[in-house]
Amino acid sequence: MAFPETRLRRLRTNAGIRRLTDAPNPDARKFIWPVFCVPGDTAKENIPAMPGQYRLGLNALLKEAEAAVLQGIGGILVFGIPEPACKSSDGSAACLDKGIIPSAVRALKKNFPELPVFTDVCLCAYTSHGHCGPLDARGSVDNDAALPILAETALCHARAGADGTAPSAMMDGQVQAIRKKLDGEGFSHTVIMSYSTKFASSLYGPFREANSSAPGKGDRKGYQQSFRFRNQAVLESLEDETECADILMVKPSLWYLDILHELKKRTLLPIAAYNVSGEYSMLHAAAERGWGNLHDMARESLFALERAGADIILSYWARYYGELFSGRE
Ligand code: PBG
Ligand code: ZN
Repeated sequence: MAFPETRLRRLRTNAGIRRLTDAPNPDARKFIWPVFCVPGDTAKENIPAMPGQYRLGLNALLKEAEAAVLQGIGGILVFGIPEPACKSSDGSAACLDKGIIPSAVRALKKNFPELPVFTDVCLCAYTSHGHCGPLDARGSVDNDAALPILAETALCHARAGADGTAPSAMMDGQVQAIRKKLDGEGFSHTVIMSYSTKFASSLYGPFREANSSAPGKGDRKGYQQSFRFRNQAVLESLEDETECADILMVKPSLWYLDILHELKKRTLLPIAAYNVSGEYSMLHAAAERGWGNLHDMARESLFALERAGADIILSYWARYYGELFSGRE
């Protein structure tokens, strides 16, 4: 049959029929909220480039986390913003037990034992040059020298009680190095959610402002994935699967739905999509100018991730899940 008997508009006739046939909203349980933690207790600093997101001291973090938990979100991803004094050439302060991430993890797990807590495992916030690992004599990031420091960092987070670690440095072999370390130290239960396909993207600007982690010199194209190299973008994730990652990730999300979809066909592991700072802030910027409704744009963009097959959505919008989705069909 074809038109005029077939009329696709029939199923759009009224809100009730649309509700019946439309897919439901992405579930709050699928969302992980990335948070920025700073030393101290009470700090709640605005991040100008990321409206509605804050740098949080421990008590402020617990309050914000409670608000997110009450909305039923599925987990939290902790980023730490250390004192500038702990930066060094190899970023080894990332593995200090007294560090900002382990402290935040302990506080979160004490107050919300049921809430899955993940940690970002990278060195860029801890290196004086801002790259994701120590530099070699040529000034490029020394892959194999970064591995033991990343593994030690993951172990430190696991010891603090993290349910999962999320390595984001894009070093070859980092998932294997972390898995071996965790297993050898009695943390075979700790999940690895790998930033398996992380692109060298222009969408991380607001995050780098929030986290003071921009590279001093150069860029990250020597280790992060080129967006021009499709096959390798898929291989990056498949390689992490062979290194025993538990969850794969595509980052950023909205400009990479093809990669997400392709990966979905090639793996049975859960796939996370990281809806990054630039994706979040550009909607705020457009809405401020009156070029779109903030919540409508956010909903539509998050729905795209769900539709493309993301099993988990890492998003700054997670904190506002209720406002975005409750009562909205
Ligand atoms: C650091 C890191 C970055 C992000 C997460 N971990 C920035 C970068 O690689 O430069 C980006 C997150 C975002 O933009 O929301 N390795
Ligand atoms: Zn990094």
